Amino acid sequence: MIKKQKPSIKSIHFFLVGNNAGNVVRMLHQTTNIMKIIMRLFIILIFFSVTLTGCYYDKEDLLYPSQTSCDTSIVTYGQTIAPIMVANCNICHSTAMASGGVVTDNYNGLSIVAQNGQLWSGVSWQSGFSPMPKGYDKLSACNLAKIKKWVDAGALNN
Ligand code: HEC
Repeated sequence: MIKKQKPSIKSIHFFLVGNNAGNVVRMLHQTTNIMKIIMRLFIILIFFSVTLTGCYYDKEDLLYPSQTSCDTSIVTYGQTIAPIMVANCNICHSTAMASGGVVTDNYNGLSIVAQNGQLWSGVSWQSGFSPMPKGYDKLSACNLAKIKKWVDAGALNN
């Protein structure tokens, strides 16, 4: 009985060699070259998509400072002022380490310097006051406008 067999590599080779092997082999080479090019394009595509999505998380107001408008329509302690303190001040003015006796990491501490004028004088770098944040750039004009508005409105715990 003759068993049915799958074509072995040898028989495929024989088939190719027996049938214009040169052309078939050339065709196979071309196919692998095309595959290589496609792979390269694919890798480039992945690279670009990764680097471009990296920009997604960049801060808009840092990339386009002149184009973002400063919205001071709603300024509250909780939503506006506390985050500015977290980002710029609390590292030196926490309850645990209150530089110069000033605490900015809670409302009670901050309201003291807000009410007595030290907060605005410090962040607006007025002469006779220690310029804040000490050793760093002045706060952005937008953040200053928000602090001014909050202080002028009575530095409420809102
Ligand atoms: C790197 C530490 C550091 C940072 C950041 C910092 N401060 Fe100060 N701050 C100090 C020190 C130290 C003093 C005490 C005065 C001095 O040594 O200049 C002080 C003093 C002050 C005073 C009293 C100033 C005066 O002359 O009466 C205020 C108000 C103040 N800081 C608010 C802030 C605010 C608001 C921020 C954030 C925008 C801030 N500080 C960020 C270290 C810092």
